[in-house]
Amino acid sequence: MGSNFVLAVLFLLLIPMAGCSPPAEPVICTQGTSDCTVTNTYGSFPDRTLCHAATVMYPRTEEEVIAAVAAAVSAKRKLRVATKHSHGIPKLACPGGHDGAIVSTALLNRTVSVDAANRLMTVESGMLLRDVIQAAAAAGLSLSQSPYFYGLTIGGMMSTGAHGSSLWGKGGAVHEYIVGMRIVTPALESEGFAIVRELAAGDPDMDAAKVSIGVLGVVTQITLALQPLFKRSVTLLKRNDSDFPEQIATWGRLHEFGDMTWVPALGEVVYREDDRVDVSTPGNGLNGQPLFRSTPTREAIEARALEERLQQTNATDVARCEALRRQVAEAERVGNGFTNDGIAFTGFPVVGFQHRIQTSGGCIDSPEDGLASSCVWDPRIRGTFYYNAGFSVPLSKASAFVAEMQQLRDLNPDAFCAAVDPRVGLLIRYVKASSAYLGKPVDSVVFDILYYRSRIDGTPRAHADVVDELEQLAFRKYSGLPHWGKNREFAFDGAIAKYPNVGKFLKVKGRYDPDGLFSSEWTDKVLGISGNPTTIEKRCAIEGLCVCSEDWHCAPEQGYFCRPGKVYPEARVCSFQPTGHRD
Ligand SMILES: Cc1cc2nc3c(=O)[nH]c(=O)nc-3n(C[C@H](O)[C@H](O)[C@H](O)COP(=O)(O)OP(=O)(O)OC[C@H]3O[C@@H](n4cnc5c(N)ncnc54)[C@H](O)[C@@H]3O)c2cc1C
Ligand SMILES: *[C@@H]1O[C@H](CO)[C@@H](O)[C@H](O)[C@H]1NC(C)=O
Ligand SMILES: *[C@@H]1O[C@H](CO)[C@@H](O)[C@H](O)[C@H]1NC(C)=O
Ligand SMILES: *[C@@H]1O[C@H](CO)[C@@H](O)[C@H](O)[C@H]1NC(C)=O
Repeated sequence: MGSNFVLAVLFLLLIPMAGCSPPAEPVICTQGTSDCTVTNTYGSFPDRTLCHAATVMYPRTEEEVIAAVAAAVSAKRKLRVATKHSHGIPKLACPGGHDGAIVSTALLNRTVSVDAANRLMTVESGMLLRDVIQAAAAAGLSLSQSPYFYGLTIGGMMSTGAHGSSLWGKGGAVHEYIVGMRIVTPALESEGFAIVRELAAGDPDMDAAKVSIGVLGVVTQITLALQPLFKRSVTLLKRNDSDFPEQIATWGRLHEFGDMTWVPALGEVVYREDDRVDVSTPGNGLNGQPLFRSTPTREAIEARALEERLQQTNATDVARCEALRRQVAEAERVGNGFTNDGIAFTGFPVVGFQHRIQTSGGCIDSPEDGLASSCVWDPRIRGTFYYNAGFSVPLSKASAFVAEMQQLRDLNPDAFCAAVDPRVGLLIRYVKASSAYLGKPVDSVVFDILYYRSRIDGTPRAHADVVDELEQLAFRKYSGLPHWGKNREFAFDGAIAKYPNVGKFLKVKGRYDPDGLFSSEWTDKVLGISGNPTTIEKRCAIEGLCVCSEDWHCAPEQGYFCRPGKVYPEARVCSFQPTGHRD
């Protein structure tokens, strides 16, 4: 393909476009609100199966939530919570079985109250991050930390431990800023089958309810502790990665909102130097992460076609690295989506108000236009399709982990061009130790990796062994913990044993929902109650459903065999052996 074509595609991808189609509904029913299929924003769970629910309810008030829960409990039906867009990747939303129910929080999206004097805001649980921070800003307040994408709901973020990046104050996780909530749980018939529990700051049950993966009940309202609206100043600094292992141990302490992006194939680290500044500092900067912008469908499809060509076994690593360099250079040219005034990027630092800098997500925000443009991952357009590994390692082990990743890179730098999606590189963020039972037990560094996923079940990725080895290194050698709302299934194998307070969590769960109506097959697996998150089947390691132990877990017919890792020999990865030779 011509390099001008590549440039044109990449360039168009980075231009903000007005007018796109909002994401599809995650719950689709064949008859009104019955006989429904539940999915996530990618239109695909990690195991590619569909999920069925007998019925969906859209309560608008807490009373309607109580009625919905009572109806399910009296019928002994399983039920789970879904949200407006359902951005969680694992199969969390499925009630399991065939007659389960879904309670959607899509219409529970109002601000309940703002107490400016005490800097508290109470919102309904289905409110999008976008709306939470806008409502706070309108009252002169800021939510200190949040994910980098604003299409998520406050209830969903809390339930999966979602986060931004900080080691300062309470740290990067959203749930650390929650000081109150109301949750509807099952109850006895004499109590009307459902009750509301009100949890205030200091209530020991808060440590269970903050990060609950939805197994305790339906959270209806959340009270957030906010700060006066502030400004911050962002500078992205590029350096070579020779001192990356030392830097990772200290960067998070130096800057309140510091993060890092490693581009392993180029030997570069982009440091985000990001701190609070006085509100009088000039600047009205805006964050517009290119991946989260509305993208013309034609360009998204062309970009995917390029990715698919680069995945073919006859594509060279030279071509893959050339594509990567162009993408990285183009992203840099446009300030990685930051603008100094909401329109143009003229250089760092970019100074702006917290609510304009902390997160972005323009692709969810637009009128229906027949899918002329949308989120690049919208399953209706066949644009991008990727896996998202999100895992933490203890801060104390981060340097050693990074040094081993660098060793693996040094063995074959070109392999990383195909293995890791260049759009975000390896994003590195900080989260502090939490008292939440399913939160991070110690101060942690969180790694996010996007990587190619085929739309065809069981199709191997180019250099699949690279990310497979990084993940196993993290999970098995460096006490890695998977993000509850990301990852392939194997990542959760054995994870629950690394949470010292899981026993306390399960006690609260037993009290709130003794019959496990809010639990599903998937939550039982990841909480260690029954079953195992992995599945052994043909090509399971290609899909991340298992770690391979035999060649048929990979794709031997296509030259992918189960082999030890190169830097971490205990790893078992699907490795391309063009000669087909076994040893
Ligand atoms: C494009 C994109 C960007 C992302 N960026 C980040 C990021 O920067 N940082 C980060 O940490 N994560 C990020 N994520 C992951 C995301 O934060 C989590 O998956 C999050 O849980 C999704 O929130 P949601 O509102 O879509 O919830 P869902 O996916 O719909 O739900 C997640 C879980 O929460 C439960 N739940 C939701 N609401 C309630 C409620 N009211 N009561 C009880 N249970 C409830 C659901 O049952 C489910 O178990 C990103 C994901 C995507 C797709
Ligand atoms: C709540 O959601 C409804 C339906 O999507 C929407 O029309 C409304 O504007 C939202 N309200 C707020 C406050 O965001
Ligand atoms: C990396 O940068 C440092 C200075 O920041 C320099 O001393 C070192 O030589 C560089 N290493 C490589 C491999 O370029
Ligand atoms: C690679 O193979 C495909 C068919 O499998 C072919 O269409 C394509 O042109 C080939 N590409 C190169 C660079 O040879």
